[in-house]
Formats: sequence, structure tokens, C-alpha cells
Amino acid sequence: MCGIVGYIGDKQAAPILLDGLSKLEYRGYDSAGIAVFDGQEIQIKKTMGRLKVLEELTHGGETMKGCCGIGHTRWATHGCPSDVNAHPHFNKDHSIAVVHNGIIENYAKLKKKLENKGYEFQSETDTEVLVHLLTDYYKGDPIEAIERVMHRVEGSYGLGIMFKDHPHHIYAARKDSPLIVGASSMGNLIASDVPAILKYTRSVYYMENEEIACLSGENIHFYNIDGEEIEKTPTTINWDINAAEKGGYEHFMLKEIYEEPKAVRDTISPRLKDDDVVIEELGMTDEEIRSIRKIDIVACGSASHVGMTAKYVIESMARIPVEVDVASEFRYREPIYEDNMLVIIISQSGETADSLAALRDAKNHGVRTLGIVNVVGSSIAREADNVMYTWAGPEISVATTKAYSAQLAAMYLLSMKFAKVRGMLTDEEFAQLRSDLIQLPDQIESLFGMKEKIQKFANRYLAAGHMFFIGRGIDYAIAMEGSLKLKEISYIHSEAYAAGELKHGTISLIEDGTLVVAVATQEKLYPKTISNIVEVKTRGAFVMALTNLGHTDIEKNADYVIYIPKTSQYFTNSLAIIPLQLFGYYVSVGRGLDVDKPRNLAKSVTVE
Ligand code: F6R
Repeated sequence: MCGIVGYIGDKQAAPILLDGLSKLEYRGYDSAGIAVFDGQEIQIKKTMGRLKVLEELTHGGETMKGCCGIGHTRWATHGCPSDVNAHPHFNKDHSIAVVHNGIIENYAKLKKKLENKGYEFQSETDTEVLVHLLTDYYKGDPIEAIERVMHRVEGSYGLGIMFKDHPHHIYAARKDSPLIVGASSMGNLIASDVPAILKYTRSVYYMENEEIACLSGENIHFYNIDGEEIEKTPTTINWDINAAEKGGYEHFMLKEIYEEPKAVRDTISPRLKDDDVVIEELGMTDEEIRSIRKIDIVACGSASHVGMTAKYVIESMARIPVEVDVASEFRYREPIYEDNMLVIIISQSGETADSLAALRDAKNHGVRTLGIVNVVGSSIAREADNVMYTWAGPEISVATTKAYSAQLAAMYLLSMKFAKVRGMLTDEEFAQLRSDLIQLPDQIESLFGMKEKIQKFANRYLAAGHMFFIGRGIDYAIAMEGSLKLKEISYIHSEAYAAGELKHGTISLIEDGTLVVAVATQEKLYPKTISNIVEVKTRGAFVMALTNLGHTDIEKNADYVIYIPKTSQYFTNSLAIIPLQLFGYYVSVGRGLDVDKPRNLAKSVTVE
């Protein structure tokens, strides 16, 4: 979603801001802008469209001289994408400039009051009320004005602010929208996400809710919402800087698909010790694991598909009842919280607003929470009672691939741990699962060999109107993710269906040549899925089947078959998803689309 960068120091700010914003492009945006203090005035340039338009407008930052500035990439919420709605927003005399991530929920009421006081609004954004409120409250002390605004507004915000009267400072404030402060020898920075400033520093302060920061080139001071100075300790970021670069690949998505074996290996290896699964960060005794009565997995999008797979795996392997909810529904369905219940939140970014809200709801009801999170230090990671990190590294492409695979791996580990402690697996069964799990990264790698074959197949479907993905059990969860991968980056409509459910309505959409991708990796459901393949074939579908090595009989019914290596029935998702990710990727490439930054989408969805 929206991105924020700010810099104050002894270097020219504009190129640093533009570079930082380029590292946040992957989050999704529709307009961009920067404000730089030129020694006299706060200069502002902003425009609808890609960052390169802003770069052209400012000659790569050359036309905006000054060592203090803030920048923003906007993903429209209130007000359509346009030059005027782009950030930074500023007041009439250009004495205050603001960039904002999040949503001001009481903006309509505030706007009316400010208009009554004579303030004129230029844009349709909620952000502009912040500018005029700041102007109204500012009596020479920026911290005091920011504090008062924070007491007044409802909603979420990550803010970067400049005051013309204080040309050697930038200010930041946060509530429910991520914001970090970076300290470096060439000056200090703010950002909504680590990649924006990783080039300049690894020493980062995570701002907490209702905190304010004041940065000069040499110092950083933090305050609480009552204006009292507080001490904070920096965290050292140890991300590999190359992980956020394309490294010779045409797209981040392809690079990240190729990084899946490593992501899975890095997630599994530290937790497989002495023939056991050791998840220290789980923070649960064996007694507590044995007493779990119910698990609720809450997540959004692909992460919720991981949850669906985990439901099948945990219920079957560990015999614990599992519910899966998409986070945007969870809170509002008044979930029944019980004693000895565990709520698991799965999130790559750790900042997804709905997932975070679900986590807080569960915590407010006294329920134990576990975050499965990729971004270290993110809100979900910090707020969950316990956090189990997936070690996928930074994921840049909007469509998740390696983080999804790492999430699956984490859920397998959890499931095996629960099953073992609860006495649901014999030693032989556990040892077999352990050995299958260890083999997964190499098996994933072996699937890259079919890249060209999948590309050729994908090229046949560049003009398709719609497609179906079907499967039963875990295969249904795989179908859901395969379908999402395709539609989000190729803009071809597709639907995932439980294979047995198709005939209760949707099968009427199958026509001559409609592509149906049938996933059939679950041995006990295999004959049933074959029947469903026959049903769609009879109605004219072209069937691409995905099944385990050895099931060559499927070729009698399917038109095109992809085989995956043999593994435990619980782990097939990790293999079957690779050809489906590649399929979505190559359809998108073939259609000439912006694979890494699909329209309308954001990497991290920080609004509800
Ligand atoms: C799809 C995709 C999204 C995310 C979803 C949750 O490719 O990436 O569906 O899975 O927005 O995001 P996180 O995991 O950051 O909470």
C-alpha cells in the first residue's frame, strides 16, 4: 500500500527519497510525490502515475535542492488517483507538509469543522484534514501540535511531517500503520518499510502506536502522545540487501519462485533438531499443547489458503479441530472464544490490517495467539503472544510465492509438533514425515526443470476468458491458491471449486475448450477426482491435471498432465503449487502485463 520515506542529513534529500520510494514500489501505488526544504521554502512535486513520471518531473531529483525532505507513494483510498490527491499535502502558505499512510476515520466531521473555521481543502483525501488541523494547533512547537492532532483523530496513521519554521527537522508519528526510523552516519531517515532505507542503514527503531519522533541530521528523539520524551532501542536488520534486488531475473516473481527451496529449507532446518521438531518460540509446554481444544486460523488471501491446507493437515495428523477464517470476516462474525483455544494469525507482512485486528480481538478475549510472520519486528510479530518466523527473506513481488511456501512449511512443523506431543503419530510415522519434509526443498527445485514446458502451455491460454481450478481436500486448497495466482497477475477470470461441488451449479459454465486445472495429489480422493475430471471432459473442457508421479492412468482422462514427485499426502501443496505459480507467471508475461505490480493491488494491505 502507500509508502513513506523521509530524510534529513548532509546529502541531497530528493535522490534519496526517490530511491527509497522505488524500493517501496512493490507495495502498490497509483501516484507519488516528494517535498524538499530548499533553504527558503518547502518545494513540493507530486503526480499521478508511476515513480518514473515523478523522476522525470524532477530530473531525478536534480531540480529539488535541499537536505531535508519527505516522500510518498499513494494507493488511493479516499479520493481517486490524481495529481491533487497525491501526497505530500500542504497548507495554504506551504509552511506544513504531510505524507500519510492509513485512514482518518473521523475525517468528514473534522473537515466540516475546519471548513467552518475558514480552511480551504484542495483534495478529496482524508489526509488533508491532518494538514489543516496541524496548522490550527501549531503555535511554534511541532511536538505539541502533533500531539494535539493525535488526540483528535480516529483511525490509523503513519505520518511524515515538515514544518517550514523548523527546517532542520522532520517529524514522524504512528498509530496502526507501520513506521520505522533509521539512524545513519549520513543523516537520519523515516520509512514505512525496511527496504526503503536498507541501503543507508541497518540500525532501525520500530515506532510503536501513539509515538512521535523528531529527527535532525544528528539526533533522534522519541515522545509519547503526552509529549514526554521516551527511550527506544534500535534493532539491527540483517536482511541480505541483494534479496531486494532482481539479480538478473526478469521479474521479482520468478526470482522469488526460484528462492522457494531456500525459503522452505531456512524455515525448516533450524527447527529440526535431534530427530525431533523443536519450536522454542511456540512458548507452549507439552501439557499446554495437549490441552488445546480448538485452533482458529485467521489470515487473508494466500495466507488464508495456507490456513486451509493447515486445517486438513492438523485435523488429520494431530486430531485438533481447526476453523479457518478470512480475517475481514472473523471479527464481525462474533467468533466463539473458548478456554484452551489457540488463534493462529498467518501473515507475510505482519501488517495486514484485518489480520492485525483479528489478533487484537482474540487477545482482548484472553485467547492465546500465535503469529506465523515473515517480516521481523512487524506489528503482528510484536503483538502476538508468540511468533514463529518464516524465513523467506524480503518478498517484493506483490503476488506471494516464497512466503506462501515458507508459511506452509511452518504449518507442517507445527502440525507435526502437535501430533507428536498428543501421541497421534508412531515413531515410524514421525520419522517418515521428518524425512519427507527434509526432502521438500530439493523436490521443489526439481520442478523448475519443467519451466519451458509450462511456458509453452501457458502461451496457449493468453486469450482465455475464464478458467477453473478443481480439487478435493488439500487439493482444493491448492486449487484456491493456483486460481488466485493466475487471476491476480494475468487478469483472466478464474474460479476454484471443490471438485465434487462443481456439478451443483457451476458446471453449466463449462464449454468446449474451457480450461479446467484438476489437482489430484490426494491418494484416497484420487478416484473421486477422476470422476469429476470425466464430468467436465464430457462437457467439452480441456483438462490439465496435476498429480503424483506414477498415476499415468490419468492420461486416459486428462488432456495434459503434470507430475509432481512423491511426498507425504500432507505436503503435496508445496510441490503442486510450483507449476501453478509458473503457469500464472507465464500467462501474465505472455500477456505483457506488469507481473510484479499488478493493477489495483498492494503488497501489504494496511487498511480494512
Ligand atoms: C496474493 C497475496 C495476498 C496476501 C494477503 C495477505 O498473492 O499475496 O493474497 O497473501 O494480502 O498478506 P499478508 O500475508 O502480508 O498478511
